[in-house]
Amino acid sequence: MDQRSVRDILAGKTYFIRTFGCQMNQHDSERVSGLLDSYGCLMALDPAHADIVVFMTCCVREAADTRLYGQCNSCKSLPPSPSGKRVVAVGGCIAQRDGEGLLTNVDNVNVIFGTHSIAHVAELIAEAFLDGKRHIRTNEHEDTDAMSMPWHRETQYHAWVPIMTGCNNFCSYCIVPYVRGRERSREPREIIREIENFVADGVVEVMLLGQNVNSYGKNLEQPMTFAALLREAEKVEGLKRIRFMTSHPKDLSDELIEVMKESKKICPHFHLPLQSGSSAILKKMNRHYTKERYLELVRKLRAALPDISLTTDIIVGFPGETEEDFLETMEVVKEVQYDSAFTFIYSKRTGTPAAVMENQIPDDVVKDRFDRLLAEVQEISRERCARFEGQTMDVLVEDVNDHDPSLVTGRLTNNLLVHFKGTEDLIGKIVDVHLDECRGFYYMGTMISK
Ligand code: 5AD
Ligand code: SF4
Repeated sequence: MDQRSVRDILAGKTYFIRTFGCQMNQHDSERVSGLLDSYGCLMALDPAHADIVVFMTCCVREAADTRLYGQCNSCKSLPPSPSGKRVVAVGGCIAQRDGEGLLTNVDNVNVIFGTHSIAHVAELIAEAFLDGKRHIRTNEHEDTDAMSMPWHRETQYHAWVPIMTGCNNFCSYCIVPYVRGRERSREPREIIREIENFVADGVVEVMLLGQNVNSYGKNLEQPMTFAALLREAEKVEGLKRIRFMTSHPKDLSDELIEVMKESKKICPHFHLPLQSGSSAILKKMNRHYTKERYLELVRKLRAALPDISLTTDIIVGFPGETEEDFLETMEVVKEVQYDSAFTFIYSKRTGTPAAVMENQIPDDVVKDRFDRLLAEVQEISRERCARFEGQTMDVLVEDVNDHDPSLVTGRLTNNLLVHFKGTEDLIGKIVDVHLDECRGFYYMGTMISK
């Protein structure tokens, strides 16, 4: 179908988009919105008011599958859409993994588009409106590059910038390399140009995204390190804050630590997934580092950047995890003192090597370990959060507070949230705020200057 026909069909239609999973998915959703906007569609805030309902899915853990089926089914009981016809589209990782197979679990889906086919979503939806048939596209080798598509940014001051897609690591529990494909880095010139355009448009903070940003640039025609890319980003005038996610410990270089130390813009926050504190389990996970190596990286980061916030991901109940292995994870957690940690119960993903490993751990044992880990992590987070009380720090104002409209909410460079008296016009500005009181995982503060 040509672009004109797509526009004729889609212009004026309303769409609702719901996103599950990681930031990469949230960013993909912005691309889908951007594309639909460019064809004259209008965003709706409620699926009941939408002609097009899009679900961007995640299949990293099993709970997400069940949630998707529930959401799709609930579309059946929505009131008629404004145009009288509704198209339900499922994209993202579950769509890529299951393709047509998704229809055995949900029968009211009209469009299924995989992670490589985002650029075609408008066309697929238009075709579904036109012929009422199902349209499925999950090719792995699409030629169009979704990373350079238009997109709909949620906020004026912050932008996500994908610097690479896919993953080559094949951690034995993880489905991502199968559904997102191999690692592919974007050209640095394109990334920097995009950041410059954002800044010209009012953006002050960027988040560089990739499954493993530390291996950025290895497959470029002219290879380049992630640290070198950060140096280039630092030079963009008007850009105030640079964040990045996610780092794999096996590729964390001294050069990166050095760049962070010199930088005035890179936020002092490092998300360094541990997954397990037991070297034996790490080996079975195919993570390519030991507990000792991980702890050495933490020491290096803290020596170079004493105030850095460290956050992590941990999986509990990986096949074969003994009580001793688990206690090693607890020890690492106590030693590192994470500012926060995302804790996950191991979820068996069909097709990954771990799914067929012997000695899967019984649910009650996993739940008990998970609860003990969570309690430890939360206690440490609470203590860590309080360490800045009484200081004045710069805060990027993000929003008017949900519960009290006389307050605004902003973020410190280390990612903690602060609520303080302020007005809507501060949104997107960086202001100095005195951190009066830590309340668990956030602060109450007072603005000192604009
Ligand atoms: N089960 C549980 N957690 C998982 N993750 C990835 N795959 C699985 C799985 N099969 C977690 C990892 C990763 C985070 C994004 O999700 O901790 O870092
Ligand atoms: Fe999954 Fe490992 Fe790649 Fe992260 S690095 S996306 S956990 S395979």
